[in-house]
Amino acid sequence: MAEPGSSGLEGVVVADTALSEVDGERGRLVIAGHDVEALAGRCSFEELCRELWAGVPGAAPGSELRRALGRERAWAFEQLEGLGGALHAPDGMDALRGALGQLPAEGAAWELGIRLTAATAVFAAAWWRMREGLAPLRPDPEAGHAEDLVRMIRGKATAARAAGLEAYLVTVSDHGMNASTFTARVIASTGSDAVSAVVGALGGLKGPLHGGAPGPVLDMLDAIGRPEAAAGWLERELLAGRRIMGMGHRIYRTRDPRAAVLERAVVRLESEGHRSPRLELARAVEHAAEEVLRRRHPDRPLRANVEFYTAVLLDALGLPREAFSPLFACGRVAGWLAHVDEQRRTGRLIRPESRYVGPRPA
Ligand code: COA
Repeated sequence: MAEPGSSGLEGVVVADTALSEVDGERGRLVIAGHDVEALAGRCSFEELCRELWAGVPGAAPGSELRRALGRERAWAFEQLEGLGGALHAPDGMDALRGALGQLPAEGAAWELGIRLTAATAVFAAAWWRMREGLAPLRPDPEAGHAEDLVRMIRGKATAARAAGLEAYLVTVSDHGMNASTFTARVIASTGSDAVSAVVGALGGLKGPLHGGAPGPVLDMLDAIGRPEAAAGWLERELLAGRRIMGMGHRIYRTRDPRAAVLERAVVRLESEGHRSPRLELARAVEHAAEEVLRRRHPDRPLRANVEFYTAVLLDALGLPREAFSPLFACGRVAGWLAHVDEQRRTGRLIRPESRYVGPRPA
């Protein structure tokens, strides 16, 4: 186990969870008992929420969950006017934090979970529309959550686009004890409420070492421009002391299995007539980055992580890069809420220790 004082807690187990398992050596991700490959493209976001939230007191069956999410999207839309300037923040994650933080924290766990999940999607879409000078679009309570989210951003959703975003939301819904989930669990462990836990987790997800990377991945692809330029561009980045976005992971020593799932979702979209403007370039840049990073860190495999193909998929879906991190939150909020519930049912106050290295009184 690594020295707790010098590490980012690697190797430290802070909870038993039945929600997801990340096997970094074999490159395997299990969510709610299923391999991620068996979920993406086969399971709706609502079905996955039902499984992740099965232990939440008052949990309702799947069909009711879809209706309840639709109803809460409509409710969240009615709150837009009362949010003040929150959704005018230039950064989408700041906007979400400010808007979700205004939701009432009281209520039964299941209802509050539905409300937070619905509101994350409605506020993310409204933020983007307002940023573009467009009016926010009223949700369709009868639609599936993913389809409605595409429509609330783009104005209309083809079946292929809705399915692409659904595969994305399901794929990123939960991922072991990542930084934002840990944050949510720490907050829940104090007996605090789910709104506070989600707002805290959002802050964690915003950072580029966690959920803030997919927008910069697209910027990198744009800056590289053509496959032949990749190796030189990447070398220069490393020489300048910068990291290659979308590469490397704390746990995976293989390619992140979610990268493969999302890459397949892009291929599926292409076969349905939505051509990805960047898939070929992305594949070339990924291979060049693996090579350059292998030379620099021969002992540490640094391969593509989820954010690399998140950028390619969301771009192919016609979704704007500034909204990539908020869209990550739209999927991950399901996992945060499941962990909040699990922490309450099975956990204790999370309160680690620090080692004092400052001066001592004379
Ligand atoms: N580009 C360049 N070098 C990288 C790198 C990357 N993407 N990821 C890791 N490294 C290098 C570090 O510089 C470090 O080198 P050093 O030992 O010479 O200082 C070494 O690999 C180990 O990195 P470390 O920061 O200890 O690993 P970590 O487990 O804390 O980092 C990430 C994991 C995800 C934070 C890291 O890989 C990263 O910053 N990736 C880029 C951002 C990204 O894609 N974020 C989304 C994550 S899903």
